[in-house]
Amino acid sequence: MAPLNPLASTALAIALLTTATASPSSVVKDYVTDNYNSTFREPQGILNHPYLVPAGPYDQEWDWDSVFTGLALLPLGSAPYLSGSMKNFFEATNMSTGAVTICLDPSDPHPSCSSDPAANAESGSHAKPLLVQGAWLSASHEGDYDQFLEHRPAMVKLLSYWSTQRVTDTGLYTWHDQMESGADDLVTSPCPSPRSDCWSDEADANSLVAPDLLTFLIREHRAYANFVDAWDGEGGDEAQEHRGQAAEIGRVMVEQLWDEEEGTFRSFNATSGEIIEKDVYNLAFPLFAGPDVLTDTQAQALVDRIFASDMMSAYGVKSTSSNDEGYNNEPTLTPYSNWQGPVWVVANAVITYGLLDHGFVPEARDLAARTAAVLEADILATGTWHECFDSSEGGGGRGLAADGFLSWNTLGYRLADDVEAGENPFAI
Ligand SMILES: *[C@@H]1O[C@H](CO)[C@@H](O)[C@H](O)[C@H]1NC(C)=O
Ligand SMILES: *[C@@H]1O[C@H](CO)[C@@H](O)[C@H](O)[C@H]1NC(C)=O
Ligand SMILES: *[C@@H]1O[C@H](CO)[C@@H](O)[C@H](O)[C@H]1NC(C)=O
Repeated sequence: MAPLNPLASTALAIALLTTATASPSSVVKDYVTDNYNSTFREPQGILNHPYLVPAGPYDQEWDWDSVFTGLALLPLGSAPYLSGSMKNFFEATNMSTGAVTICLDPSDPHPSCSSDPAANAESGSHAKPLLVQGAWLSASHEGDYDQFLEHRPAMVKLLSYWSTQRVTDTGLYTWHDQMESGADDLVTSPCPSPRSDCWSDEADANSLVAPDLLTFLIREHRAYANFVDAWDGEGGDEAQEHRGQAAEIGRVMVEQLWDEEEGTFRSFNATSGEIIEKDVYNLAFPLFAGPDVLTDTQAQALVDRIFASDMMSAYGVKSTSSNDEGYNNEPTLTPYSNWQGPVWVVANAVITYGLLDHGFVPEARDLAARTAAVLEADILATGTWHECFDSSEGGGGRGLAADGFLSWNTLGYRLADDVEAGENPFAI
């Protein structure tokens, strides 16, 4: 790849890169090598284990940030921090309810989990179902499953939290609110969270069913079954039961959220019983659910859908379709980060690995190249990274809010190499 002139326009840099190869230039790798350890924290305060923070304005341990950052940085020695992050969540889990907060703070047992420090602590939100899989992937990397044996009761509680508190009578599962999903203000919810005046507990709480949640839950049950096999020996009833639950969630997701006519996954309103007809990034997340969930025809339809021009930008998959009336690229952070259009690396990485898992190698390579390009362009233009990127045609992929953010952007270090090697580090 030709070296880029740092003075070249962002758009030109991106055009050059997307037509070249999927391999990120040394700019992205060097940036990660120089900065990755600012996501590492030693045990302190009420957190007993080493952990990961997203950096930038975020100085707490967060659920999905720690999982994706931990996986991204395994080649750079993050495993103790990833394992430790998951252990901190297990130790913070309420053993009578199974509840645990989205973020952990060394000095505050009831953290606000918002970029707005003035926000209320009590939002009712729970960490995403990613913690057992984060632990499993880290334990596999370290070849040490027994380090999590003492956390087995917390894992069981966390899984039963979802299957008792968040399940609908048709076997779907709900987010408490849009912000809990991590896609703060995504257009699938008219009211994002209890922090907003529009919120009504009765109408809004636990109304959102979405394919990202079901995908994470399928993986979570599989990860727990793998732990049981590793601890107890293969073939036990408990492992079977969780593999069965994973399969059932996959079946229900396809049965109730697959839109055959449009060839896409939909979200669903469990309060009103209505399909939510919004095109957003998570329509392709079921590709990340692992084998035996989608038919080949469904997987191909999802590829066609995300590569359509309203969903795909030069810089990766848009968080919200540019055909949506709410589409915008405002650089917002408080009270909500913007998921109404910008490109988010975490969403693009999930979809890239999902494409790879289903054998869509040229498409995975293409998406990895777009991700590498936008990450490189931000460093060249601003000297740092932001949490999301402008997906509009004239926007040039410019970095939006939260400068100094590292978190899952560090996946840029390995994404393209993983695609070339045919390796999905998230495989369960
Ligand atoms: C990162 O590494 C540098 C150099 O080894 C060290 O001085 C610094 O304390 C580390 N920072 C963290 C947060 O671990
Ligand atoms: C667990 O949750 C229950 C119900 O909300 C609460 O009463 C109890 O204090 C919590 N336990 C801990 C250790 O926080
Ligand atoms: C679900 O529908 C109710 C009205 O029945 C509405 O108040 C709520 O905001 C909707 N939730 C979502 C996620 O669309």
